[in-house]
Amino acid sequence: MIGQSVSRNSIILGLFAIATTGMIVLTANLTRDRIAEEKANALSRSLLDVMPAERLDNKLVEDQVSLQGDALLGTDKALPAYIARKSGEPTGVILQVSAPEGYGGTINLLVGVSSTGEITGVRVIPPHFETPGLGDAIELQKSKWILSFNGKSLQNTAEKNWHVKKDGGEFDAFTGATITPRAVVDAVHKALLYVDQNKDTLLTAPIEGSSPVEETSHGS
Ligand SMILES: Cc1cc2nc3c(=O)[nH]c(=O)nc-3n(C[C@H](O)[C@H](O)[C@H](O)COP(=O)(O)O)c2cc1C
Repeated sequence: MIGQSVSRNSIILGLFAIATTGMIVLTANLTRDRIAEEKANALSRSLLDVMPAERLDNKLVEDQVSLQGDALLGTDKALPAYIARKSGEPTGVILQVSAPEGYGGTINLLVGVSSTGEITGVRVIPPHFETPGLGDAIELQKSKWILSFNGKSLQNTAEKNWHVKKDGGEFDAFTGATITPRAVVDAVHKALLYVDQNKDTLLTAPIEGSSPVEETSHGS
């Protein structure tokens, strides 16, 4: 009698364990897909912050290339870039670049550049480690400073002006915080130089083209 009850309870316990494990696996799979989808959506939104939607008719996240590390990109690691196109023709490029000289460490940025070389937008990629109330004015949520790059190009802004005012350039610094804006101005300037030096491959290459930039699949 006791033996029967124990084995019945064992079976119930076993079934319960199987059902619970199944639920956990199912939830993990659903959550993983959801997180990946949310990440892709967040990336799409960030890319459109620096490249106005009217400039493109392609899906930026699906037109990704991997750029080899370069001093002008602020890193020796490979970084993604995204090509904006209209009817297949490149209309601009979004680079991910690093500003290694931030006060709190490296600041990562998205820099949108039109095919004619003007900046279409710059945004900080979170997280950054600049000090709240000082260096964090690089965030659009904290100040409009990051918008001061819009429309700037190597043509309309001389080399000597790509500095904060304190260093003889034309960009404002923040009260009590010069290091952060100095690092960002330098990184954005270098991003423009990079696009200028690589425009033939970045901005004229067809989607399936052979070029120094290597095609990568979405999300890689
Ligand atoms: C606790 C603390 C946090 C600071 N955080 C920043 C910061 O996030 N960004 C920044 O540019 N400067 C920051 N500063 C100020 C810098 O040390 C520096 O004094 C300031 O950027 C002015 O630089 P300059 O002498 O080159 O003009 C911070 C200073 C202190 C004491």
